[in-house]
Amino acid sequence: MTARFGVIGWPVAHSRSPLIHNYWLQQAGIDALYERVPVPPEADFRATLETLRAAGFSGVNVTIPHKEAAFTAVDTRDAAAEYLGAVNTICLTPEKITGHNTDGLGFIDSLQDAPERLTGPALVLGAGGAARAILGALIDAGIGDIRVANRTRARAQSLLDLAPASDGVRVFDWDDRAVAAQDARLLVNTTSLGMQGAPALDMPLDMLAPDALVADIVYTPLTTDLLARAQARGLTPINGLGMLVHQAAHAFALWLGHKPQFDTNLRDQLHKDLGEA
Ligand SMILES: NC(=O)c1ccc[n+]([C@@H]2O[C@H](COP(=O)([O-])OP(=O)(O)OC[C@H]3O[C@@H](n4cnc5c(N)ncnc54)[C@H](OP(=O)(O)O)[C@@H]3O)[C@@H](O)[C@H]2O)c1
Repeated sequence: MTARFGVIGWPVAHSRSPLIHNYWLQQAGIDALYERVPVPPEADFRATLETLRAAGFSGVNVTIPHKEAAFTAVDTRDAAAEYLGAVNTICLTPEKITGHNTDGLGFIDSLQDAPERLTGPALVLGAGGAARAILGALIDAGIGDIRVANRTRARAQSLLDLAPASDGVRVFDWDDRAVAAQDARLLVNTTSLGMQGAPALDMPLDMLAPDALVADIVYTPLTTDLLARAQARGLTPINGLGMLVHQAAHAFALWLGHKPQFDTNLRDQLHKDLGEA
């Protein structure tokens, strides 16, 4: 019987997850299909999961606006999901429904393509769901000096209050983000600034260390204004595609036992799909 996987969201038509997972399923010769599952915000999420399990689904990803509903709907959760209060990957078995969060690991893996070692100081711009996942992953990776700047300072502060080990994390006012960048060796934009249809991120880069990594998790467009400026200064730009693909690879591993590769073919397909050759 063909195994079933999918992504639950609303809207979900734009999701690249089917392209990514179906590529890996086909490559591994697994008889399975990864589908889009549109579920409106008001739906009973637990009932949705049980319907999917009865229909033969073994695993699902969860995207906007259901990550928090998924957190409460599952039977058990991993440590990352517990910390984030959000679930992006679910394993469905007859016995139980487990929730995971692979966003932070996906971000860390996306840096592995860069020649430089992941090291601090690090500056995280933004304090939403993605920032929380990345902050947790940077703390887990042992980065000792992490700075966070967000337009709404209180949101950055609450993010810090929830971090499991936040001694090395400092919050800066949004207007002080250039000061916070002093000698940073990693800059991460987790705000929606720079996305298609949004204003560009106004962030000077001259305070960064000369060998800094500049990561932008926005992936529409793939080359944001921030990344183009980083490249022009000789810094190492990292686009948001790596995080997207690597969080998917961790989900795939939870369902099927091995972590697939982000190979050139997949990269080319995604670039084409995103309209960038
Ligand atoms: N590559 C990937 O795999 C991946 C994964 C997840 C998310 N993302 C992308 O990451 C971005 C953030 O996602 P999220 O889920 O964390 O969203 P979110 O929870 O809505 O957070 C949005 C963040 O952007 C900030 N922001 C929005 N407009 C701003 C403005 N005009 N000036 C300054 N700051 C502004 C918000 O600041 P306030 O707190 O002040 O509102 C907040 O920190 C999105 O573009 C999303 O597509 C990419």
